[in-house]
Amino acid sequence: MENRQKIAFLLKTDQPVEKVLIKGWIRTKRDSKTFSFIEINDGSCLKNMQVVLDASTPNYADSKKLTTGSAVAVWGELVRSQGGGQQWEIQADRIETISLAPDTYPLQKKRHSDEYLRTIAHLRPRTNKYGSIFRIRSELSWAVHQFFRDRGFRYVHTPVITGSDCEGAGALFRVTTLDPSVSGQSKDTDTYANDFFGQESNLTVSGQLSAEMLALSLGDVYTFGPTFRAENSNTSRHVAEFWMIEPEMAFCDLDGNMTLGETLIKHLVSFAMDHCTEDLQLFARFVDKQLMATLEHIVSSDFERVPYTDAINILAASNQSFTFDVGYGVDLQSEHERFLTETYFKKPVILFDYPKTIKPFYMRLNDDGETVGAMDVLVPRIGELIGGSQREERLDILEKRIASAGLSTDAYWWYLDSRRYGTVPHSGFGLGFERLLMLVSGISNIRDVIPFPRTPGTIDF
Ligand code: 4AD
Ligand code: MG
Repeated sequence: MENRQKIAFLLKTDQPVEKVLIKGWIRTKRDSKTFSFIEINDGSCLKNMQVVLDASTPNYADSKKLTTGSAVAVWGELVRSQGGGQQWEIQADRIETISLAPDTYPLQKKRHSDEYLRTIAHLRPRTNKYGSIFRIRSELSWAVHQFFRDRGFRYVHTPVITGSDCEGAGALFRVTTLDPSVSGQSKDTDTYANDFFGQESNLTVSGQLSAEMLALSLGDVYTFGPTFRAENSNTSRHVAEFWMIEPEMAFCDLDGNMTLGETLIKHLVSFAMDHCTEDLQLFARFVDKQLMATLEHIVSSDFERVPYTDAINILAASNQSFTFDVGYGVDLQSEHERFLTETYFKKPVILFDYPKTIKPFYMRLNDDGETVGAMDVLVPRIGELIGGSQREERLDILEKRIASAGLSTDAYWWYLDSRRYGTVPHSGFGLGFERLLMLVSGISNIRDVIPFPRTPGTIDF
């Protein structure tokens, strides 16, 4: 097959190019008696390539039949465009139809609602908005790896299928090869003894516990992979399958952890501003007029570090009417998080030192015996973007915390081994990649930053 040139590459030229070949999908077409103007998009960038055909182009008559959504190949010369709106265009000397789309193609020129486009998630990447967010998603994935690699972190792969009690978190998706009509939903051990792994197993809710083992050998590590939560929360910030970035650092305390979280967020936001400019402009024009100002503000502000107790006092004194009451010992809701970051501090906020009663067993117990070295990073419009902590590295305390969480220390024998042999202070966090993409793009529903979202009741595509 003859090699095509990508439109993104051709549009960067500063010289006409005598012979080019592009392949892509028709976005729009305008015909006059003697000319046709076709806008072709090949996904390599937001911009289309304008192609000009005239009566002397072979197949000119056929090309009149071309429809929106059809795939074509165009040979011709890249020349400066006389018309406004674009710098370059292709004067075609040959056009071939690769496939003709019938007029049932759902993406005709008008603007479609996000809700409608979710029902055609297999086609929506062909729109400007979704093409842009998925290119940004790709760029930022690379930026994550580059960020950690530049700082000497190793990229580690942690299991997707895990043993039952991995984090003591509820909301798990069970993995089984048993026939449900035979085994039923029974939780008794005999049932699982016959299952694939000989015990209950689930999709991972976090790679953290495994990542800790690698941090305690390789030093600084991170994971970046799919994560699964079966919580039945139908909100604009939750999906059942999402991607989490989880750094884990040996010889690092909560302060160092907060600094890394802040540095990572700022790096990714400014990376997007520098490397995804054209795609981001689309969101700044059509999705959130304040977007660029918000992003610049995030990069330039010092994140406010606030103990949980202070945050509760601020919320209690705020005279806001929240749907959920606040008081010491309650977990913050999105409305509280957003009040703190958007209204009160007007910048990203890092809450730390939460009551042990609302956080998992592995977080390091503070000297007060009441709070743990937890941290959540809250950002405007999203609320929680990062959740993390310093880890409990003291064997005796960790054993007690596991037991009082109602979990079995036996099941965690390997995790406890790391505290038995050469234990060191260490810390880490998880950053939800989709929430980061929401922050960067201004997109307000998490279903629109991942190509094929999984939410309660929907698993089409
Ligand atoms: O706060 P979480 O639950 O933290 C953990 O899982 C830790 N084990 C991470 C660690 O310390 N290594 O989740 C981390 C982040 C959240 O702050 C949020 O951004 C994202 O993951 N997240 C979700 N994103 C989309 N949909 C969901 N259902 C999410 N649940 C969490
Ligand atoms: Mg959390």
